[in-house]
Amino acid sequence: MNRILSILFLAIAGCATLSAQAAVDNDDLVKYRRNLMDANGGLMAASSAILQNKVSDKARLAPFAQALGNLNRNIAAQFPKGSASPDSDALPVVWSKRADFERLASNAEAKAATFAKAPSMKSYDDLSEACKSCHKDFRK
Ligand code: HEC
Repeated sequence: MNRILSILFLAIAGCATLSAQAAVDNDDLVKYRRNLMDANGGLMAASSAILQNKVSDKARLAPFAQALGNLNRNIAAQFPKGSASPDSDALPVVWSKRADFERLASNAEAKAATFAKAPSMKSYDDLSEACKSCHKDFRK
């Protein structure tokens, strides 16, 4: 009997530890994915300034475009189930309309890959549309 009780106790303690870790990880995850999105925003704004000749820093366009290509790979994985939070601007539909969310994420990934291969005003605009089409329904 004692053995069963101690196994039970260990199991419960294990669960408590796991959920405490999950709570901490979730805060970190929300911060992390907002940083990823802020990087998206910064790289897009900087690329736009170069493409529109507002700055003469052409050498950085290719690396920025490549960074965007890498950044947007499988971005949906940064929004796992249970990662809603008061600190997050992700709407509940991220999880309740998962197939739509993942389709828009894949679309952005494809558009970012095209921009990375051949950065131009056109491939930039296509990517920018892909960002907006997700924010429209999935972000506060
Ligand atoms: C598949 C959906 C999706 C795509 C595609 C997407 N985003 Fe987001 N974005 C979100 C969601 C959801 C949030 C809110 C994240 C949070 O607060 O947890 C967000 C947040 C942001 C933020 C605010 C970050 C902050 O600090 O709160 C910026 C800036 C941003 N996105 C830029 C972009 C840009 C630029 C692109 C395209 C290159 C892009 N996003 C593509 C869904 C998307």
